[in-house]
Amino acid sequence: MLSKDEIIDILTDESKTEWLFSLADKVRKDNVGDEVHLRGLIEFSNICKQQCKYCGLRSPNKQIERYRLSEDEIIGCAENAINLGYKTLVLQSGEDDYYTVDKMVTIISEIKKYNVALTLSLGEKSYEEYKAYKEAGADRYLIRIETANKNLYRKMHPNMDYNNRIRCLKDLRELGYEVGTGCLVGLPEQTIEDLANDIIFFKEIEADMIGIGPLITHPQTPLKDEHNGSFWLALKVMALTRIMLPDINIPATTAMETLNPNGRLIALQSGANVVMPNVTATEYRPKYEIYPNKICINDNPDKCRGCISGKIMSIGRKVADTDGQSKHYSKNIK
Ligand code: 5AD
Ligand code: FES
Repeated sequence: MLSKDEIIDILTDESKTEWLFSLADKVRKDNVGDEVHLRGLIEFSNICKQQCKYCGLRSPNKQIERYRLSEDEIIGCAENAINLGYKTLVLQSGEDDYYTVDKMVTIISEIKKYNVALTLSLGEKSYEEYKAYKEAGADRYLIRIETANKNLYRKMHPNMDYNNRIRCLKDLRELGYEVGTGCLVGLPEQTIEDLANDIIFFKEIEADMIGIGPLITHPQTPLKDEHNGSFWLALKVMALTRIMLPDINIPATTAMETLNPNGRLIALQSGANVVMPNVTATEYRPKYEIYPNKICINDNPDKCRGCISGKIMSIGRKVADTDGQSKHYSKNIK
């Protein structure tokens, strides 16, 4: 295992980049194999009560057109994704209180009638809410810490509390979820040491899944005049995360592909073993604008499945036909 100083050194020393990516690729192969797990991502509401400074869905953004799918539409979207072959679905939204516990429980239990793993990404909820979703059949939960630097966290998330974020991660673990978290790379004032601390944080909380992406500044947010994060730095943080947490799931994130046309394939060859293709209906895609220039906004679920499968095969990997439970979870947590 690497010390903080070693992590900082690797993040800083350009001459170690190639070595880092090939080591992460080997660690990925030895621990989680060559299969790539696809998760069908359903972006079911872009309505959000929070104000994260980087995110286009933040509530003060009055310029985006808001939408929210009905329960039946969400279930229909899930059925479509299941018919396309997805073994894991991710339900993601802004923090939208329209979806009460009762509504979510209905959606979850309807989708769980099919033989699929179900991941939720709905933001901060209470222990009781997480418990109800779990009892309805949800298997996994994604909630990024975004940054493990408390001061920076506070600056980026007005009216939110770092400790509550940690409480969410702890509750999810206690409830038996497979837990995913992650961070943004390139936040204003974020240092290399912060990124090293993020990686150490992932290790400490024993996450089962880690998603890492570069910041892409959104013109309708307070970060509009800041620089985008660096694709290569985000990739390095991801590769180091693979080396430090060998048996977890790591997605090649959509934000990486937004900054580099081959971003997801490069990530799959530098430690990643998961891709989350969009299975939202085309009409809603442009409205789920977390950041600008998101890929695939004019495509449909069928097209994305075929496209990414072809790309995965082109690098000699194969699309898994199992639900791709985190090896870390099956070995240590379950
Ligand atoms: N650039 C890149 N990623 C972003 N996210 C939110 N806004 C942005 C942005 N401007 C990420 C956050 C969140 C995930 C769903 O999307 O890390 O957890
Ligand atoms: Fe959507 Fe390639 S993954 S078009």
